[in-house]
Amino acid sequence: MLPELTATRYVTPLKEGGSLPGIVEADDDGTYVLKFRGAGQGLKVLVAEVLVAGIARLIDVPVPDLAVVRLDPRIAKYEADEEVQDLLTASVGTNLGVDFLPGSLGYDGSRPPGADLAERVIWLDALTANVDRTWSNPNLLVWHGRTWAIDHGAALYFHHSWPSRAPSPERFAAQPFDASRHVLRDVAGDVARRHDELAARLTPATLEAVVAEVPEEWIEPTPDLADASTVRAAYVQMLRARLDGPLTWVPEGAAA
Ligand SMILES: Nc1ncnc2c1ncn2[C@@H]1O[C@H](COP(=O)(O)OP(=O)(O)OP(=O)(O)O)[C@@H](O)[C@H]1O
Ligand SMILES: [Mg+2]
Repeated sequence: MLPELTATRYVTPLKEGGSLPGIVEADDDGTYVLKFRGAGQGLKVLVAEVLVAGIARLIDVPVPDLAVVRLDPRIAKYEADEEVQDLLTASVGTNLGVDFLPGSLGYDGSRPPGADLAERVIWLDALTANVDRTWSNPNLLVWHGRTWAIDHGAALYFHHSWPSRAPSPERFAAQPFDASRHVLRDVAGDVARRHDELAARLTPATLEAVVAEVPEEWIEPTPDLADASTVRAAYVQMLRARLDGPLTWVPEGAAA
């Protein structure tokens, strides 16, 4: 389970970040990048962050630790900036904390990872249909000499259609992935060659454990998915379908 913490101080908004993430301190004395439940994109973005980070860990892609961070109404009250205050007020309750990596640098290609890690990151993004790792938005940090993957809220986009349409594992299984603009494309070798080994780590049991990490209150039932356990099962089914399906999403010979 993800650790459950309480925010003790709102420090500052992050300068980058479309969803206005902020930095907070929590009652474990840690500092976290907070992804707010009240930000425009809603709870599904937080769910995608937890799921993709969980899968990343299974294939040894470094990701910052995650935590559930509770926001108290009092923290919003003491915030002077009106836009931030609105966001904090809308986010009272549980939010996603991403362990802040102090002194990390945004990825600029000057210290690329080895081909092995680059291939695993591209495979992760292809599996989870994460288009958000290009040169215009690398979403990689360099910290302690390693490359860390962040910002997975845009992945698993299929769940945004769930309120109106039943999940379609077949459609997701067949959805292609375009790795041509991936920020690590030129560093990676043949990603397809890695598929069997990486897919073998995502057993039904390990995927279920990842899906179980999503806090219950972030899961939104729909007419087709009546309760949280049905929604969780749907995520596993979607991912299994992609892993077992026609594999047209696996990037072939990514090296330029
Ligand atoms: N764990 C972290 N440690 C240090 N810095 C971080 C961390 N997470 C994010 N950042 C910094 O904050 C920026 C914004 O974070 P992130 O990409 O997760 O937010 P976002 O709102 O989803 O962004 P966008 O939509 O602009 O891609 C990152 O580009 C990075 O510079
Ligand atoms: Mg980002």
